[in-house]
Amino acid sequence: MPQAYSAQFAHLYNRRWTEFANHVAPYLTHFYADTELSKTNKHVLDLCCGTGQLALHFLQFNYQITGLDLSHAMLQHARENTRQFVEAGLAHFVQGDAANFTFNRKFGLVLSTFDALNHLPDEQALRDCFACTATACEGTFIFDLNTRRGLNNWDGSFIQENSAELTLL
Ligand SMILES: C[S@@+](CC[C@H](N)C(=O)[O-])C[C@H]1O[C@@H](n2cnc3c(N)ncnc32)[C@H](O)[C@@H]1O
Repeated sequence: MPQAYSAQFAHLYNRRWTEFANHVAPYLTHFYADTELSKTNKHVLDLCCGTGQLALHFLQFNYQITGLDLSHAMLQHARENTRQFVEAGLAHFVQGDAANFTFNRKFGLVLSTFDALNHLPDEQALRDCFACTATACEGTFIFDLNTRRGLNNWDGSFIQENSAELTLL
């Protein structure tokens, strides 16, 4: 499948790129907790869930998570990072394409964080993702992505916020 993160990169990602999910999680969990729907619908879908860092926060707030990702290696980390919830049947991680998925339930909240939707190959795939999400979601879809302007200004560098280290990819 295209765009799948390799085992090596997934290992690195799991160790180093957790800050974004940890940073946005309190905002997202509080946002959903403040909705009426959160009282009746505890099911959250994390599209392009990566290594399950964001999922873990929602699980700790007693939501049930379905994580979807293209990468087998990223999903393995997600299952390991949330192992007790997977074993309890509260977290499910499935391999699939964010532009082509169906579930036989409606989620109260759908998330896709850390520019994950920029991985979709073209505008049609993004439209397909929105269409699939509209069918699967009875609440809110929250996502972030880089615009064309943002990508034009991005020079390919990442700055680790917890150190002075600069990693060039
Ligand atoms: C930048 S990571 C973001 C991971 C996670 N959302 C986070 O906040 O850390 C992008 C993720 O999107 C996944 N991905 C890329 N293309 C995808 C697709 N078409 N469908 C599902 N997942 C995809 C990658 O495997 C990777 O795990």
